[in-house]
Formats: sequence, C-alpha cells, structure tokens
Amino acid sequence: MRVAIIGCGTMGHLHASMAASCGLRIIACGDKYKHSAKVLAEQYSAAASDDSMAVIADPEVDIVAICSPTPTHAGYAIAAAEAGKSIFCEKPFARTVQQCRDAMSAARKAKVKLFVAHVVRYFQEFEAMRAQLAAGKVGKPGFVKLYRGGLFPMGADGWFRDYEESGGVTLDSMIHDIDWLRYTFGDAERVFCQALRRSEPEAIDYSTATFRMKSGVIAKVIGTWAQPGGFRVETEICGDKGMIQFNSDETPIFTMKRTAPGETPSTIVPASPVPKSPYQLEWEEFIAWVRGTRQPRVTARDATEAVRMALAALESAETGKPVKL
Ligand SMILES: NC(=O)c1ccc[n+]([C@@H]2O[C@H](COP(=O)([O-])OP(=O)(O)OC[C@H]3O[C@@H](n4cnc5c(N)ncnc54)[C@H](O)[C@@H]3O)[C@@H](O)[C@H]2O)c1
Repeated sequence: MRVAIIGCGTMGHLHASMAASCGLRIIACGDKYKHSAKVLAEQYSAAASDDSMAVIADPEVDIVAICSPTPTHAGYAIAAAEAGKSIFCEKPFARTVQQCRDAMSAARKAKVKLFVAHVVRYFQEFEAMRAQLAAGKVGKPGFVKLYRGGLFPMGADGWFRDYEESGGVTLDSMIHDIDWLRYTFGDAERVFCQALRRSEPEAIDYSTATFRMKSGVIAKVIGTWAQPGGFRVETEICGDKGMIQFNSDETPIFTMKRTAPGETPSTIVPASPVPKSPYQLEWEEFIAWVRGTRQPRVTARDATEAVRMALAALESAETGKPVKL
C-alpha cells in the first residue's frame, strides 16, 4: 500500500517512519511549504508538493496520513474520503465537533476507513493499568488523576501558540488523557475546568479539568505547557482495595494493595518492557483494519467524543461554570 503524508512537520516525519517500518511505501508528501514537503520526501524518494489536495487526489495513493495542524484535519479527511482513500488522522480529530461529524459522514458515505490516532491507547503502561483495573487489583475505582506536562510547543509558524488554532493544552494535549478516561471508565456526565492561558510575555497554558463520570468516578485531568523543560506523565487511580500509580520518570507502574490491619503491604510490579513504539502499534492496527483482519480499539466516534469533552472543558474554563455532557 502506498502512503501520502499531509503535513511534514514533527508528526509527519514520525508517521512516515512508522508507516515505512510497517512495509508501506511513502510515495508523496504534501505541506503548505514545498521546502518542508521536500525535506521529508527526499528520505523516501517520494514526490513533494505544496498542493495537499492534489496529493490526496493522486490515484497512486492508497492511504492518506493527515499530520497537519488540527483545524485542517477535517477538510483533508473529507477530500481523502471522497477520493476513496483509507485515512489515518492525527488527534485531535478536528477543531470542532461539527467538523468531526462531517468527516465521519464523508467516510461513511464513501465506505472508507477513517482512523484517528489516539496513541495513548497503545502505550503499554496505559494498557497495563487497564489490565490491572480489569483484574480488580484495586477494586472499584473512585478517583483518577491524569497529569501530562511539557514545554509549550512551537509548531510551524507557531500554530500551537494561537489558541484559536490549537485549542491550547486542553484540546491538544489533555485530549490524550480525556480519550483514555472515557475508554477506561465510560462516558462523562459533566466537567468543571479552570485554565490559565497566557501568550505574553511568555506563552504558558495550565489547565485542570474535573470530570464526573456516569459511573460516579471523579477524574482530574491536568495538562500543562508550562514546564520549563522535559515531558512527564503521571497517573493515579484510587479504588476501594488499592491504588495504581504511574510516573513516567519512574517506570514501571506501581500498584499498592490496601491491606487489612496487621497485614503486610504487598506490591505488584508488572514488567513493562517496550518492544515496540506505541506509534508503530497504532499503524499495525490501522493496517490490519484496512486489510480487514482486525478492528481498531479506537473509532472515529470515540475521537469525536474526546473532542466534545475537551471543548466542554474549554467552555467551562471560559464561563467559570460546570458544563453538562
Ligand atoms: N499523537 C501525538 O503524540 C502528537 C504529538 C504532537 C502533535 N500531534 C498532532 O499532530 C498534528 C501535527 O502536529 P505537529 O506537532 O506535527 O505540527 P508541526 O507544526 O510540527 O507540523 C505541521 C506541518 O503541517 C504543515 N502545514 C501547516 N498548514 C498546512 C496546511 N494547510 N496543509 C498542509 N500542511 C500544512 C506545516 O508547514 C508543518 O510542516 C496536530 O494535530 C497535533 O495536535 C500529535
């Protein structure tokens, strides 16, 4: 199968290498800037263009990988669907819920596969936490904390710093955890969010959203683009029989069992080798879906719900009021 990469920045480079290591051929690269398309295309002896719509329409292309800024996703997904291509789209699925729905309906109408790359579902540590929960290791979960923090990203032309474009840390980064939250604990009922967003003198975005899930679980999702350096993920899931903690600075994940008085505490430390990048795993699952051998663990509807939840959090931050979902 032959792949076109649309948007040849950070994720375009990453996904080109993942697709290539799955044995796919990168044949075309499209970017707003010809130079950016060329830099990537040269690595794969592919064609380069600053006309991404023409790249998508190329009859030689089987798969379109959308790695451009978020507000452009839906337009490219719709064009790819209408051209009959399989679609791999970076998260967030789109900038608005309506755009997500339009892209989904175009894919449905054209009967093409539309995959949204919610990579956290493919992180082995997060899969291990789900397995521990499913095995009842901490009993009934009550409180969840999901933290994700790093530097304020720049992006081409500084698009991440334009809150209207990127949706800031709440839409762009917290959506990873928001999707995983819904994947693991079901639908949310309401959200209250507070966010500090600053552009000058230095761009800083710090957001904290509390979701009440329909199951009764309370979940705090914290995202920051205010770290002076590095990148860190931290998780805590507290249940009536124990607690799971994960800190990306201190792998592997760590589970503490609540014990009866007098009992010695037991610690479960599951092995967490990482034989493959989660980005590679998501490509493998997407390709298997395209070939009709496997269903992916994430659907376009899941990705739409994640956008809806993240945008509700942003609305809450703006109005200062909780938002029902
Ligand atoms: N899954 C993850 O871990 C992860 C990480 C970072 C970013 N992302 C997502 O991936 C997408 C791309 O982010 P990035 O970090 O690679 O950004 P980036 O700025 O590094 O790259 C975007 C590229 O798209 C090009 N571009 C801009 N407008 C375009 C247009 N209209 N048509 C075609 N190309 C255009 C830019 O010139 C640039 O080369 C975003 O939706 C972002 O949220 C996902």
